[in-house]
Amino acid sequence: MARRKVSVIGAGNVGATCAHWIATRELADVVLVDIVEGLPQGKALDLAQSAPVMKFDLNIIGTNSYEETAGSDVVIITAGVPRKKDPVTGKYPSRDELVKTNQKIVGEVTRQVAQHSPNAIIIIVSNPLDAMCHVALQESGFPSERVIGQAGALDTARYKAFIAMELNVSVRDVHGIVLGGHGDQMVPLPRHTSVAGIPVRELMAEDKLQAIIERTRKGGGEIVGLIGVSAWYAPAAGAVEMVEAIIRDQKRIIPSAVLLNGEYGYNDLYIGVPAVLGAKGVEKVIEMELNDEEKGMLEISAEAVRSVVGILGY
Ligand code: NAI
Ligand code: 2OP
Repeated sequence: MARRKVSVIGAGNVGATCAHWIATRELADVVLVDIVEGLPQGKALDLAQSAPVMKFDLNIIGTNSYEETAGSDVVIITAGVPRKKDPVTGKYPSRDELVKTNQKIVGEVTRQVAQHSPNAIIIIVSNPLDAMCHVALQESGFPSERVIGQAGALDTARYKAFIAMELNVSVRDVHGIVLGGHGDQMVPLPRHTSVAGIPVRELMAEDKLQAIIERTRKGGGEIVGLIGVSAWYAPAAGAVEMVEAIIRDQKRIIPSAVLLNGEYGYNDLYIGVPAVLGAKGVEKVIEMELNDEEKGMLEISAEAVRSVVGILGY
């Protein structure tokens, strides 16, 4: 089979780490793109020079143009700006300003991607995640099964990591899921969480479990508080898990931001739900049976997503 090709747009923390893990797992040739001259070229060269030691056998190139991305199977979009203080005014941008700025960036990037790789599956990472999925859907003209957002893979990974740390057991044995938008109103589901098949509530006191749920919801902010910028290892791991499911047609069930068309009672809204990911992108949305409390939490999260999507003006 011909070698597969994954392009990663944005060679910053998350993008470069995606390239790193795609390479070490030998999933596909990688094209790393950024607007900053020298940055993607330098990082791609450095990564390529690690290949003789790490023993992967792929082509990795860095570029400032989209020509080399042509014919990509999957494109990960991480381009965007984080929320940071204006050095002149000392003020933070408003949420609306930040959404508009990233809408412009993700919009421009998506148009280039769609033009050069009309059959690609796009994975959005740029924030605000759920809203940026709407931008990519709109600007690409792709069917929604080929425009997917990475958030649930990360949020669920954080949830599982915290449970494993609390119980001092292997992360491999922790199963669980986080639904909803990628924000503080996300919905971890303790009723559907188990450790080696044992319901988590048999293993952990309720106050500890609730503390983990709260820590998961604020997981992104915890890292920003520690480092000063947002996370990259776990976000990139989540994106690469999705890439692998698609490239290897694994039919993995990965919580992902997908456009709902009636599922869970929502229409035309990107929100995190369990999705079967395979060669066609989102091959199926799994509808879980939620109780009234869970449905209520999902609605609060959906409302938060709607309010950001409303800023886009589509
Ligand atoms: P970063 O600042 O390290 O990297 C962003 C890169 O995008 C920079 O190298 C920048 O030059 C590039 N860029 C900006 N405009 C561009 C354009 N028009 N074309 C090509 N490249 C462009 O940021 P980081 O940490 O990699 O985060 C990237 C995005 O991902 C941010 O929006 C961040 O909030 C988001 N994020 C999302 C997560 C999720 O779970 N969905 C988790 C972590 C970050
Ligand atoms: C995170 O959850 C900021 O979305 C980013 O780490």
